[in-house]
Amino acid sequence: MLDFVRSELGLVQDVCTPTDGAVDRPRTGSECSPPSPGRLLVKMTTHDVTGYLRRRQLFVNESRAAVFCNVFCGEGGLGSHLAKQMQRYLPCAITKRHGRQCEPFAAGLQANAGNREQSTGGLMDKKLKNKVAVVTGGSAGIGLGAAKRFAAEGAQVFITGRRQSELDKAAAVIGGDTHIVRADSSKLADIDRIYEVVKAKAGRIDILFVNAGFYELGRFGEITEEHFDKTFNTNVRGLFFAVQKALPLLSKGSSVILVGSIASIKGFEAFSIYDATKAAVRSFARSWIVDLRGRGVRVNVLSPGHIDTPGLSVLMTDEQKASVLANVPLGRLGTPDDMGGVAAFLASDDSAYVNGVELFADGGVAQY
Ligand SMILES: NC(=O)c1ccc[n+]([C@@H]2O[C@H](COP(=O)([O-])OP(=O)(O)OC[C@H]3O[C@@H](n4cnc5c(N)ncnc54)[C@H](OP(=O)(O)O)[C@@H]3O)[C@@H](O)[C@H]2O)c1
Repeated sequence: MLDFVRSELGLVQDVCTPTDGAVDRPRTGSECSPPSPGRLLVKMTTHDVTGYLRRRQLFVNESRAAVFCNVFCGEGGLGSHLAKQMQRYLPCAITKRHGRQCEPFAAGLQANAGNREQSTGGLMDKKLKNKVAVVTGGSAGIGLGAAKRFAAEGAQVFITGRRQSELDKAAAVIGGDTHIVRADSSKLADIDRIYEVVKAKAGRIDILFVNAGFYELGRFGEITEEHFDKTFNTNVRGLFFAVQKALPLLSKGSSVILVGSIASIKGFEAFSIYDATKAAVRSFARSWIVDLRGRGVRVNVLSPGHIDTPGLSVLMTDEQKASVLANVPLGRLGTPDDMGGVAAFLASDDSAYVNGVELFADGGVAQY
């Protein structure tokens, strides 16, 4: 049973904690020594457990909640109390334990069905509740901004990147139901691995945010083969295969968001290769909406202007950033959080009839 719970919930190590009384610190497997999840849970007070679940937004998905209740709802008063707390976050879940219906949970859910839509702050209010999101290059910058917002809106998020240390830090910041896949988006075998993990853990993709990209200056006349290949391999080849390989997993109604750039429509000095890659990205969206006709999959391009990310700080000094501001009608650089808001719009049903567009989020810099 424990293996089943571990695979279904993926959170046994989160829940089995309190050898030292603290509830909030995620534990490693070896710290848990968890022969019985029920035994471990009853060491906590109901207040601890319900607060923990709420803060971690663990029950974003009905089947996971149902499994949880299967295991725990028979544990005396604690199970019933948990069930009542959980009903505030779930649309419905009828569970059975050893063939018997877990009455307090089921009855509580039915009794409160009418009130749930009015709850504030719960998952019912979240735009991406129960969605599965994949964010390539999700450990920093724009990708991290999007991943944070997706998670805050209730999505289960998978982030990718090449550096494990950054992925670990990002997952801690994002919180919620976040999974890490260490992968280089310019390598096709790594892309395959991303989707193997997603398929095994979530079975589908509702939001694909293809963000991993590469940029560096390259003066025309001095462009090297390496510069050309690295830029195209990540921004065009990697992005193309990230979407093509995701096709079997994309659900009906899913949203594919390609991260472009104002460089798709502008010429920047010593940036011709990068500019061309982003023009290619924009072009893909135009073709794919036709290729995907009838699949119910939307494809849009989010094209940022100057966004203050770790990557931009490698490209530009603070003085250069300041000089750029003179051209930005809004008078500031964009932030990863700004991009997260636009990404959430394109990911959600708020943009259900938006397909094939390039949405510029640039403070106006490329719009006059
Ligand atoms: N910042 C801007 O002003 C701006 C403007 C327009 C468009 N964009 C576009 O926005 C996207 C993100 O830019 P950013 O400024 O947020 O970059 P960033 O701050 O450098 O962050 C890049 C993220 O992507 C990951 N990454 C980079 N190369 C990768 C690869 N080959 N495979 C997997 N992950 C990779 C990085 O982690 P690892 O290094 O650990 O892999 C990191 O998590 C890019 O497509 C860029 O072209 C940025």
